[in-house]
Amino acid sequence: RSYEYILVSRPEPAVVLVTLNRPKSLNALSSPLFAELNQALEEADKDDSVSAMVLTGSEKAFAAGADIKEMKDKQYADVYKNKFLEDWGKINQLRKPLIAAVSGYALGGGCELALMCDIILASPTAKFGQPEINLGVIPGGGGSQRLIHAIGKSRTMELVLTGRMFSAQEASQWGMVSRVVGEGEGEVVKEAITMAKEIASKSQIAVQAGKEVVNAAYEMTLAEGLRFERRIFHGLFATNDQKEGMAAFAEKRKANFTHS
Ligand code: HXC
Repeated sequence: RSYEYILVSRPEPAVVLVTLNRPKSLNALSSPLFAELNQALEEADKDDSVSAMVLTGSEKAFAAGADIKEMKDKQYADVYKNKFLEDWGKINQLRKPLIAAVSGYALGGGCELALMCDIILASPTAKFGQPEINLGVIPGGGGSQRLIHAIGKSRTMELVLTGRMFSAQEASQWGMVSRVVGEGEGEVVKEAITMAKEIASKSQIAVQAGKEVVNAAYEMTLAEGLRFERRIFHGLFATNDQKEGMAAFAEKRKANFTHS
């Protein structure tokens, strides 16, 4: 399938790489771009031969936000009735892990898109921010809520109210990104693909279960979350991959997971 605003490739047999490709607008996230992104990710998620996905942009911009030119003349009645940006939520329905490889600008909706991913790796060139306040609005793609969980209230409040950008280094110190990779063009995508390949060597069922329980922590109390985790853990004893993984350990050989 060919897309207009994204590129989709298979850098590894079990890894799909989606590259935002609207360079003239610094990957501004227009509605047509987001529709393509959702379609590509949903397809990868459904494909049994795919185990993990990587999302990236260009060296200059992961994404400079929602498309301001598309938004600027919209009225409340339009955005409310037509559920403007509601399809951004589809990213959260994905079962398989999605890794963001961020270089350059990740602003507004671009920062929020990175935060919707399961893991973020940053290039030293990454510049994050929620500059919506400069446009007379606020984050609308989950930025305020997800940043709180990632970096705490005071920093979130500062960033949302001043709109200032923050560096890869800051994002890493604050725990918003897993780590800052080495310098060098393409390094962050390479690292993300290596990580995706590593995840792809595991049981897809166990990986999916791991993602599900980690995400549950956002919505449950500790007691509920612990019970949920234990039940999902118990459930994995019904899989061939649990038998294979534990047998392989006992026999001192590498596990050969069949995702069943
Ligand atoms: C539409 C955008 C854009 C955006 C950049 N462009 N960001 N178009 N929407 N979000 C376009 C510019 O208009 C310009 O087009 C081209 O991309 C290159 O951008 P420049 O500004 O010339 O580049 P530069 O001087 O290098 O500055 C880079 C920048 C700046 C600092 C990232 O572009 C910028 O501030 N962009 C806006 C960032 C922002 O406010 N994002 C939040 C959006 S609101 P032309 O045609 O002039 O060459 C948002 C809300 C999300 O995301 C809520 C719901 C999810």
